[in-house]
Amino acid sequence: MERTFIMIKPDGVQRGLVGDVIRRFEVKGFTLVGLKLLAVSRELAEQHYDVHRDKPFFGGLVEFITSSPVVAMVWQGDGVVASARKLIGATNPLSAEPGTIRGDFGVTIGRNLIHGSDAVETAQREIALWFQEGELAAWEPAIHGWLYE
Ligand code: RTP
Ligand code: MG
Repeated sequence: MERTFIMIKPDGVQRGLVGDVIRRFEVKGFTLVGLKLLAVSRELAEQHYDVHRDKPFFGGLVEFITSSPVVAMVWQGDGVVASARKLIGATNPLSAEPGTIRGDFGVTIGRNLIHGSDAVETAQREIALWFQEGELAAWEPAIHGWLYE
């Protein structure tokens, strides 16, 4: 089944929003298959945001991501990559719809609380970057039949 990489950024952890974020993915019906809190190395942050290496905000973004611990997660479910992006909302929290995580909790693009993979292929790359295979648990929730026809 499809998987995506989700990271609660330093601002989300510092603001005590870890539980709220996890709750939104749980009640939606997605399955948590990997979870850890970690201090991010500069090397990992630069690899994760490699696509933005030439952007003016790259340096500040790496500084921010390495400034305080993050919560890294892998969520699983049908269509989870695109659906997670909808749950997260637009990159700029001021443009993000109310009801989305960024729309409900954020006010500025450099403190937008959470990252979600932008495509299935990106998710595969990011999951491999952040997690060892043994850190992920393949399991099926007992309520599976109540979530899927
Ligand atoms: P993310 O990768 O963190 O899930 O966010 P995203 O796809 O919605 O946005 P993306 O374009 O990939 O940008 C990555 C992160 O860089 C910061 N950013 N700052 N100052 C700026 O103009 C600017 N633009 C992007 C944001 O924190 C964004 O989440
Ligand atoms: Mg992105």
